Amino acid sequence: MQGNNASASIDIAPPGVNVNVPHSARIYDYWLGGKDNFAVDRAVGEAMMKAIPGMRYMAGENRKFVHRAARDLVAKEGIRQFLDIGTGIPTRPNLHEVAQRIAPETRVVYVDNDSIVLVHARALMVSTDEGRSEYISADLRKPSSILTDQILLETLDPTRPVGLTLIAILMLLSDAEDPWGLVAELRDAMPSGSVLAITHPTADFNPAEVNAAVAAATGAGMTLVARTRDEVRRFFGDWEMLEPGLVPVSAWHPDEPVEDPEAAYYWAGVARKP
Ligand SMILES: C[S@@+](CC[C@H](N)C(=O)[O-])C[C@H]1O[C@@H](n2cnc3c(N)ncnc32)[C@H](O)[C@@H]1O
Repeated sequence: MQGNNASASIDIAPPGVNVNVPHSARIYDYWLGGKDNFAVDRAVGEAMMKAIPGMRYMAGENRKFVHRAARDLVAKEGIRQFLDIGTGIPTRPNLHEVAQRIAPETRVVYVDNDSIVLVHARALMVSTDEGRSEYISADLRKPSSILTDQILLETLDPTRPVGLTLIAILMLLSDAEDPWGLVAELRDAMPSGSVLAITHPTADFNPAEVNAAVAAATGAGMTLVARTRDEVRRFFGDWEMLEPGLVPVSAWHPDEPVEDPEAAYYWAGVARKP
């Protein structure tokens, strides 16, 4: 977004961003009320909102989980370094901001494979002086490319527990891509005491709405898979689920009582490596 056109239209794309194909990061940004989305993203976002009228609420509940989980992992589990894969377009407060409010020395490595996320993350993900916030452009489908990245190796201490966060990303991988195998590869690389936090959309609470939303997304050429509780549980392998277990996202240590925890169609949980 440069030059004289900077204020003329928000639909001017940064270099490398394809505005003809809908993208999950930008659709999600649209639901969250952000400005980094294009007509093609808004069209799919609207179609999915037609299927799930509570979609914006769902996106908000998912973000709130990010905040509660980051806070608890730092305050209760003593985590001081995070690997966040599928970061999304920066939305305040971002994970490192929540974590560094409690422990300013916290280090966060963000990973995403979308250029628009890269553009904004580099500009906005500013760390405290004591901590660090770094960004890697890499793909979850190649865990080794993440784990051997020089920035990760320089930022995270391999001997200390890591908070591995896979928030609203695994649904973008098909079963054929073996997301369970990919997550197992990441789990195996983590030191003992590490924790894994996952949220994942599901059709378990409202099959009609969720299946219609999935159809809208796949009809537009996207990969989107809603998974059952058992399928989501398998991502944690033999790690020990922390209280309250794998639950509807709004029911994971809510700050206030939630009237209908199943109104946001996500499973959420956190587990610790023995
Ligand atoms: C729905 S957003 C979730 C953002 C954030 N984790 C949250 O929950 O607020 C999904 C993000 O995952 C990223 N993503 C999708 N597939 C990916 C992949 N294979 N590797 C890395 N990032 C990916 C997208 O670019 C997008 O930024």
